[in-house]
Amino acid sequence: MVSPDDEVTPPSTDGGSAEPAVGDLIGDLFNDSAPVGTESLSNRPTDTKRQYKPKGMFLGSRRDTGEAIDIAPQVLARHGAMLGSTGSGKTVMAKALIEEAALAGIPSLIIDPQGDLARLALGIDLGELEEKDGIVARAKQLMDRCEVRIWTPLRSKGLPLCIDPFRAPPADLDPEEAITAWDMVAAGFANLAGFDVEKAQGKTVKPFLYEILVEGTRCGLNVGDFQALARVVREPHQEFIRHLYPECFDVEDEEEKVDPPTWNEVMMEHRLTDFEERLPKSTRNDLARRLAAFSSGVNQLLFSNGVPIDIDAFVEPAVPGKIPLNIVYLNTIQDENQKQYFVQELSRELYDWMLTQQPADGELKLLFFMDEVAPYLPPHPRNPPAKDLIKLIFKQARKYGVACVLATQNVSDVDYKILAQANTTFIGRFTQPQDVEKVRHLLKESGGDQDLVAQLPTLGPGQFQMVAPDVDPNPVPIQCRWLYTDHGAPLNEDQVEEIITPEIRAWAKTRSAGGTRSRGAGAAHAASRGSSWSSGSEWEDGAAHSIVEAARIKSAGGMAAAAHGIVDDSAFEVKLMGGFAVLRDGRDPLYTMQAAVNLATVTLLTWVMGALMLAWRDADLSGWWLLVSATACLAALGVLVLESVLGHDAELLQKLSRFAHTFQVLLVLWLWVLLGWTVWGSLDLRGAEPLLEVVVVWVTLFTGIEYLTRFRLGRIRWNGGSALDKIVGVSALLTKAELTEMKGTSRELLSSIRWMLHGVTLVWLCCLLAFQGGILPENSSIATWGRPTLWLASIYGLMFCSEAWLRLRGRWPSEHNLSKA
Ligand SMILES: Nc1ncnc2c1ncn2[C@@H]1O[C@H](COP(=O)(O)OP(=O)(O)O)[C@@H](O)[C@H]1O
Ligand SMILES: [Mg+2]
Repeated sequence: MVSPDDEVTPPSTDGGSAEPAVGDLIGDLFNDSAPVGTESLSNRPTDTKRQYKPKGMFLGSRRDTGEAIDIAPQVLARHGAMLGSTGSGKTVMAKALIEEAALAGIPSLIIDPQGDLARLALGIDLGELEEKDGIVARAKQLMDRCEVRIWTPLRSKGLPLCIDPFRAPPADLDPEEAITAWDMVAAGFANLAGFDVEKAQGKTVKPFLYEILVEGTRCGLNVGDFQALARVVREPHQEFIRHLYPECFDVEDEEEKVDPPTWNEVMMEHRLTDFEERLPKSTRNDLARRLAAFSSGVNQLLFSNGVPIDIDAFVEPAVPGKIPLNIVYLNTIQDENQKQYFVQELSRELYDWMLTQQPADGELKLLFFMDEVAPYLPPHPRNPPAKDLIKLIFKQARKYGVACVLATQNVSDVDYKILAQANTTFIGRFTQPQDVEKVRHLLKESGGDQDLVAQLPTLGPGQFQMVAPDVDPNPVPIQCRWLYTDHGAPLNEDQVEEIITPEIRAWAKTRSAGGTRSRGAGAAHAASRGSSWSSGSEWEDGAAHSIVEAARIKSAGGMAAAAHGIVDDSAFEVKLMGGFAVLRDGRDPLYTMQAAVNLATVTLLTWVMGALMLAWRDADLSGWWLLVSATACLAALGVLVLESVLGHDAELLQKLSRFAHTFQVLLVLWLWVLLGWTVWGSLDLRGAEPLLEVVVVWVTLFTGIEYLTRFRLGRIRWNGGSALDKIVGVSALLTKAELTEMKGTSRELLSSIRWMLHGVTLVWLCCLLAFQGGILPENSSIATWGRPTLWLASIYGLMFCSEAWLRLRGRWPSEHNLSKA
């Protein structure tokens, strides 16, 4: 660091820290030093700048009028962005902002992918600054006040920083937040293990991990370190059973030993899902192997070497009264996946921390800056794990007093939605026509001045167009001021090592839990933050339970979370006709029955259309009816075909699914209309009447079952909610938890259907006997009551046939398997 210049009185730092009175402080400072300044510089043309006393953040001057640019720190609360090609001065601009934030008493967290931000730790030669018309007194003040920490993941050259991936979200999150949080944990592990959550395999790995983590935590199973998690991933059923029924394993005496229950029984009793069916054994082994690898070798350093990421530590000064400037130096991580993962975990910590902040009006708690964000925030449809979180942070940071700023050299490589959140944009030089076009597009949406775009190729380093509606309705041409700190080539690790002062290192040591941080330390860390995911003895049962339970209840109870778009989309049902998507394992009698019903329905509709066509030809029927029939027939066919063809495209199916549910209701109505028409009207279906009757019974039965299930799941409520809510409830998509529940109860459902069917049959047989024996009056005839026989027979037929189909293919889940103890 450069030694203070004797010419100017050093400002006093009185330990009172950065209260809003910084403006006054700066004022005092200038009153003190003004005589010296004016004396030595009285005959310089830039004298005005020397005397200038910034009120807020002093960023430079206007290129047209030379007027100083001084913006209120609160402007940053609505986020900022620096855009410009390489060398346009984005990093310098951002550093100026960070310096000004520090002068205003706002700590920062900086993600430094290149290593040049680390130079913030180096002072500048004050003589050189003076030559560049910088305000020396402010530079000195900055150096006195701020405390720079360079955090180096994996390495101890700087301050080592590590991740606690098994940390649970804070206990006081609301269920939606908890779901998101767990989802992020799962996505993080999936990504870390090298499964791209955007690709097909990752899409199955992530939900699998989600279930393992959430259900494991709920059941108290240890999934709190890599070894343990890998074990459960490899053999989930065995591990769950071992944990849930220790009496079957820990008994000394062979005689007393009880056989453990089968997974089907465990699943029923503990409301679990069939984990092993979720992910093929080979993938599970692969995943387990990769997870286990993180508990040893160099990988382990990422999780055990140094201070666990803790935003509280980032904002608290080591030396009272100083303003912390935290630079996370990413160059120490070589592996791209690990880098992404690290940024994700950092963002996760930041997000969780942010939610607990309650800033006073206009108060800024933290400045979060990311340089060269393109790899972390690529545009749709790419979705690396950190992106969702950073998006969330951008969306919500304002109310928690966190200002977010990012910089990128390529506008088209960054998610547009995130860029659009920045209310203050510094646009620097762009020479490529396609880049200029992108900027034009970006500005058009925010109503910016298009003239400014034409100037972009002519800008020099440090020249920007500041588009900041909060400051000025028009774009401001700005020349960024020179820095109060050093700027230049990226620092290497050895240079970083030299910078870190012994006090800061000592402070960091107190923050890390010894050289080799164990799980216990992670637990302590978690516990100190009011959360409680850890292994074995330190387990705080209640809190974790409440988070998981809340997440479950929420996902089973309402669509709020899904409406916020924060729940994994792949978790929703993708079956179009009928609500038994989940049963699609081809082993479930209900699913087979549903499939048969769908098939019969389509056959009937085709037949009906033929019959109506003939009637229309004979001029017995208006063309409208034919149209309705054709629509119904084609829609049903279309839905079924789409479903089988698009079986893998969950996203599209999900979109179609809403339509299909509404259509299903209309279909039932249409079938009833047809039935009424044949019975009381004159419609001739050319022999399809019995089939129509059977299909009506089946479809009505299944629709009834589905609604009952939805009712039981709490999707539809009798009291409360408008009629519209009820309709929405009917057609709403079911979440994964609901599907799991449906699946879990499928067997139960089938047996209760059987039971009711037996009851109705019994009653009907009694009726028949009554008629037979002449118990009822003479004039009532069984002939008029023939229909119920057909109805009952049709349902029995459906059940028998689907069961026979499964049995013949050897897929019938035998009672023997189920009851085997
Ligand atoms: N405000 C400025 N005044 C003078 N020179 C500047 C200014 N901003 C940037 N430069 C020059 O441009 C170079 C590149 O700036 P930098 O911020 O690292 O670019 P970027 O991050 O956009 O790639 C700097 O090393 C410096 O020489
Ligand atoms: Mg840069």
